[in-house]
Amino acid sequence: MQEPFGEMGLTTILTHTRDRGYLFVPGALDATACARLEGEIARLALVFGDHVAHPINPGTPQEVRQWHERAYYPIDHPEVPVGTSLCHGLAKDVASCLPAFPELAGWLPTEIGYQRYRAPNDWISPHRDRRSDQLLSVTYTVKGSAWVKVYVSEVEPPDYRRLTQIDEHLTLPGTAMFLRAPGFGSGVQVIHEVLPPLQGERLILNLRMRKSILPAP
Ligand SMILES: [Fe+2]
Repeated sequence: MQEPFGEMGLTTILTHTRDRGYLFVPGALDATACARLEGEIARLALVFGDHVAHPINPGTPQEVRQWHERAYYPIDHPEVPVGTSLCHGLAKDVASCLPAFPELAGWLPTEIGYQRYRAPNDWISPHRDRRSDQLLSVTYTVKGSAWVKVYVSEVEPPDYRRLTQIDEHLTLPGTAMFLRAPGFGSGVQVIHEVLPPLQGERLILNLRMRKSILPAP
């Protein structure tokens, strides 16, 4: 049977994600899939959140600032059929790799999160994703392009003001970023930063496995 994700193969992707914490996969979605997702986003009401005036974890070494629009839906919600179909397809692909990754048994993204980086001042500062994420997370770039940087902290617990960059990747439409989440491998979450779109807007889809879905902002 041919592996999903073409030449690289999902087994290789999952091995890297488990062992190193992340992997960028160019061309994980084709132009048709991106267009369908872009159409879905256009029908949704994304909401702007000002986390510059109101940072996350304010005044701590883990302060995070972000400035963009977003909306979250549970899988199978009637407003996100395209995202839902992608979740079920990915879960099926991952299930085909279970002999090598038994800890991913039952993995299914339950939260569909869309984000719009509208212009050159939309971004997310260095951060780890939520501790409540489970096993494996996937982010697709649907439209536009931006650099995503990966860091390690000099201290633990991390101090987002004292980081060393270890990687960067220019995301394009169709690029996937696989991220390790608690329960997969060491479970240590990678620190990453999402830079502003290079030109125009950038749309992304976050797929997360979570017990509870983020409320609409
Ligand atoms: Fe993130």
